[in-house]
Amino acid sequence: MSGPGVPATMRAAYVERLGAPEEIRVGELPVPAPGPTDVLVAVELVAANPVDTYVRSGRYRTPVPFPFVVGRDLVGTVIGAGPGAPFGPGDRVWANSLGHDGRQGSFAQYAVVPAERCYRVPEGADPALVVALAHPAATAYLGWFVHGGLRPGDVVYVGGGNGNVGSAAISMARRAGAWVVASARPADHGRCREAGAHAVVDFAATDLAERIGTAAPRAVDVFWDTSGHHDLDLAARVAAPGGRILLSAAQVDRPVLPVRELYTRDVSLRGFVISRATVAQLADAARLVGTMVADGGLGARISEVLPLDATAEMHARLEAGTVSGRVLLRP
Ligand SMILES: NC(=O)c1ccc[n+]([C@@H]2O[C@H](COP(=O)([O-])OP(=O)(O)OC[C@H]3O[C@@H](n4cnc5c(N)ncnc54)[C@H](OP(=O)(O)O)[C@@H]3O)[C@@H](O)[C@H]2O)c1
Repeated sequence: MSGPGVPATMRAAYVERLGAPEEIRVGELPVPAPGPTDVLVAVELVAANPVDTYVRSGRYRTPVPFPFVVGRDLVGTVIGAGPGAPFGPGDRVWANSLGHDGRQGSFAQYAVVPAERCYRVPEGADPALVVALAHPAATAYLGWFVHGGLRPGDVVYVGGGNGNVGSAAISMARRAGAWVVASARPADHGRCREAGAHAVVDFAATDLAERIGTAAPRAVDVFWDTSGHHDLDLAARVAAPGGRILLSAAQVDRPVLPVRELYTRDVSLRGFVISRATVAQLADAARLVGTMVADGGLGARISEVLPLDATAEMHARLEAGTVSGRVLLRP
């Protein structure tokens, strides 16, 4: 799209091929042109996610065009829209499903977003908070409501409750009427309670099953260790008959699977990844995220706001596991 105020080129963080973080360049690329049902967004902030590193490295296999702009999430302002896109110049929007499945990513001054993957920033909301929540809070929605079958009155366990996904998962489950027991380091228990947990246990405790059993009013209907440190023996011990165990990350790739304890009590394992969510599921997630942002029901720990030049360093730090909280970048 050309026109007043839209330059021909933009700064972007991109790769020419999949590989190590050092493959990431920050340089000039043509400003992309929106199709009939797309919008062109002037990007204000983007957020860095572990999944960005999986796509860049090829660990998560998905079609990507080259040069490939990395990144999923953005918040910004619409500056152009195709005739079939229900947005207009000046609309504040966010997105969380760029940068995979054939779509270019968000880490650039401008990005094309299919209108169906574009959501309005709630009136008066802090754009930094919106983009910080875009990925983890949508993941929390998918975990509970698409894959976990969460119902009011359920007892849920949220492992890694002080993490990005964990914190959003606590807040959403609580809002949905669940009884929430979370795990975190003792220093982070207060934050989990602020997010909405009824009880918090130390994930390093050697008697974790007993602690969960004491803290919760009854056995756990949905067990979700958002950190990916799977202890399925623990899950089987605390799960209620008919319970669900959610799998959404894998710090432990091949945990012991206590088959008998699971099948004899109708306990199921349900894996999911946001990358496979449908447009409709993502839109439903965005509606709840928007509502909860607007009413103050979701928080995020924004630890750093960096320039786009820090993208490669940020990928390396995400891979090294030395990032805590949400890191945002300003293109
Ligand atoms: N499937 C999907 O669709 C999807 C979507 C989003 C994210 N993910 C994945 O989900 C994982 C978590 O992401 P995140 O952004 O929430 O990460 P995060 O913010 O680093 O959160 C992880 C949390 O787990 C805690 N933790 C560390 N060791 C633990 C243990 N043994 N047991 C329980 N908790 C422990 C950490 O505490 P300390 O910081 O104190 O160590 C931290 O609070 C990542 O692997 C990410 O790739 C998957």
